[in-house]
Amino acid sequence: MILKDRLAFVTGAGSGIGRAGALAMAREGALVVVTDRDGAAARAVAAEIAAAGGRAEAQAVDVADDAALTEAIAGTAARHGRLDILHSHAGVQVSGGLAEASVQEMDLSWRLNVRAHFVAAKAALGPMRAQRRGSIIVTASNSGVQYDRGMIAYCTTKHAAIAMVRQIAVDHARDGIRCNALCPGFVDTPFNAGFQAQMGGRAALENYVAETIPMGRWGSVDEIAEAILYLASDRSAFMTGHALVIDGAESL
Ligand SMILES: NC(=O)c1ccc[n+]([C@@H]2O[C@H](COP(=O)([O-])OP(=O)(O)OC[C@H]3O[C@@H](n4cnc5c(N)ncnc54)[C@H](O)[C@@H]3O)[C@@H](O)[C@H]2O)c1
Repeated sequence: MILKDRLAFVTGAGSGIGRAGALAMAREGALVVVTDRDGAAARAVAAEIAAAGGRAEAQAVDVADDAALTEAIAGTAARHGRLDILHSHAGVQVSGGLAEASVQEMDLSWRLNVRAHFVAAKAALGPMRAQRRGSIIVTASNSGVQYDRGMIAYCTTKHAAIAMVRQIAVDHARDGIRCNALCPGFVDTPFNAGFQAQMGGRAALENYVAETIPMGRWGSVDEIAEAILYLASDRSAFMTGHALVIDGAESL
C-alpha cells in the first residue's frame, strides 16, 4: 500500500473526482478526512470507505468559508498529530465570456478556484512544515493550460491556480512540501451540468466530446484517481510545481 498510515484531507470529496480520489487513497492505506459542503454526501463517502475496510472521517466544510476551512484542516492535523496530503479539490464553473459573465460570477470563481486553495494550503503549511513533508494537490483543470471559448471566469481562475501552485512549490520545496496541480479534461460528473446546458443538452455534449477530444471519449473518475494517488504518494517524490494534464490530448 503506497499511502500506508498517511493522513489525507480532501475538499469537495462527496462526489465525482474528489470522491474517487478519497476512495483510492483509503484503499492505499491512508486515513482520509472526507469533506464537502454537502455533509450527507461526505458521510456517505466515508461510510463507503469504512465498508470497504478503510479508515475515514467525514465533515461538512464549505471552502468559501475561510474560518471553517482553516479550522477543519488545523483541527485534523491537531487531532491526528500529522497531515500528509491535502487535496484541495472543490471548485466552480461559470460559463460566459467577457460580455456574459458578471462581476459577481468572476468573484465567485476567484473565491472557490483560487482563494479557497490559498486558504487551504496556508492551513496545511504549519503541520506539513513541522513534519518536513507533505503533498498538496490543487485541482485546476486543463482549462488552466488552454483557452476555452466563452469561459472567461473559469479559464482565468484555473490559470491562476496553476500559477499559485508553482509559487508554493518553489517557496516550500526546502520545507519538504510538494505542490502540484491536477488538470483533468472532460470527466463525466455532475460538474458538467452547466456546460451541458450551454451546449444545448446531453446529445450535443456527447457529440462535442466525441469530436473535439483526440481520444474521442470522456475520462473516468478512476483514471483521474490514479493521478491523485501518484501525486499524493512518494512515487512522485521529485515532482513539484507540475501541472499534470489528463485530458485525452484535448489541450494539444
Ligand atoms: N468533471 C470535470 O470534467 C472536471 C474537469 C476539470 C476540472 N474539474 C474540477 O474538479 C472539481 C469538481 O469536479 P467534480 O467532477 O469532482 O464535480 P462533482 O460535481 O462531481 O463534485 C463536486 C463536489 O464539490 C462539492 N462542492 C461544491 N462547492 C463546494 C464548496 N463551496 N465547498 C465544499 N464543497 C463544495 C459538491 O457538493 C460536490 O460534492 C472542480 O474544481 C473542477 O474545476 C472537473
